[in-house]
Amino acid sequence: MEDSIEVILQDAGRVFPLSTPHPILSACTGALLAGLYGVWSLFAMPGCRKIPWRLKVPYLPSSKDQTLNVMKLLEGRTGHLADLGSGDGRLVFAASSAGFQCTGFEINSILVAYARSKALWTGVPPNQATFVKKDFWKTDLSSYNNVTAFLAPGVMELLGEKLLKELPDDARVIACRFPFPNWPHQSSAGSSLNETFAYDISAVRSHLRNAPNTAA
Ligand SMILES: C[S@@+](CC[C@H](N)C(=O)[O-])C[C@H]1O[C@@H](n2cnc3c(N)ncnc32)[C@H](O)[C@@H]1O
Repeated sequence: MEDSIEVILQDAGRVFPLSTPHPILSACTGALLAGLYGVWSLFAMPGCRKIPWRLKVPYLPSSKDQTLNVMKLLEGRTGHLADLGSGDGRLVFAASSAGFQCTGFEINSILVAYARSKALWTGVPPNQATFVKKDFWKTDLSSYNNVTAFLAPGVMELLGEKLLKELPDDARVIACRFPFPNWPHQSSAGSSLNETFAYDISAVRSHLRNAPNTAA
């Protein structure tokens, strides 16, 4: 005869005791997790505390493929490049070796120190790669004709507005993984998590001028 559902649940309770966890144990686990998060955020996001919650972007390094995709979309370009949130500097180093004069803006002082020391020990001259500990939202980007950004989906619309206000008409913007909403891209490279998008500011401006209900 088949067991009733009550018998099956009783048996399961014997094998996997279904008692509620002890409240002190729960409180200790909660406190431990909160502490670990605090220590992690101290190292992963120092400086980020001054940034409004909705604009916070954690550190996540670009993959090798992503970096190659960025470089592919910068082919034929020259001049000044800003990497917004430069992390350990990998995009800046790749672009500087292709001849760009690069500035990496980074809010995390540990990552800035790491990128600066890497530039020193690999002999990259400061006019090719500079790392600035600065909030890019508070930085005028009008002197850059190339901009790269690997950030987060929630900040792309606001970033688009800032770049449209500040960048020169001949600027190109490369967005890693997260495209700008409502901007037409000129080209893209890679797929899935490594997909990277290139936007020419003059084309974006004329698209938005001609699109109904949008302001360029
Ligand atoms: C997803 S990581 C990308 C790092 C690097 N560009 C790369 O591709 O490996 C984003 C970086 O942006 C930095 N960041 C976030 N908000 C920033 C801000 N307002 N100003 C400067 N850096 C910021 C974070 O600290 C983090 O290092």
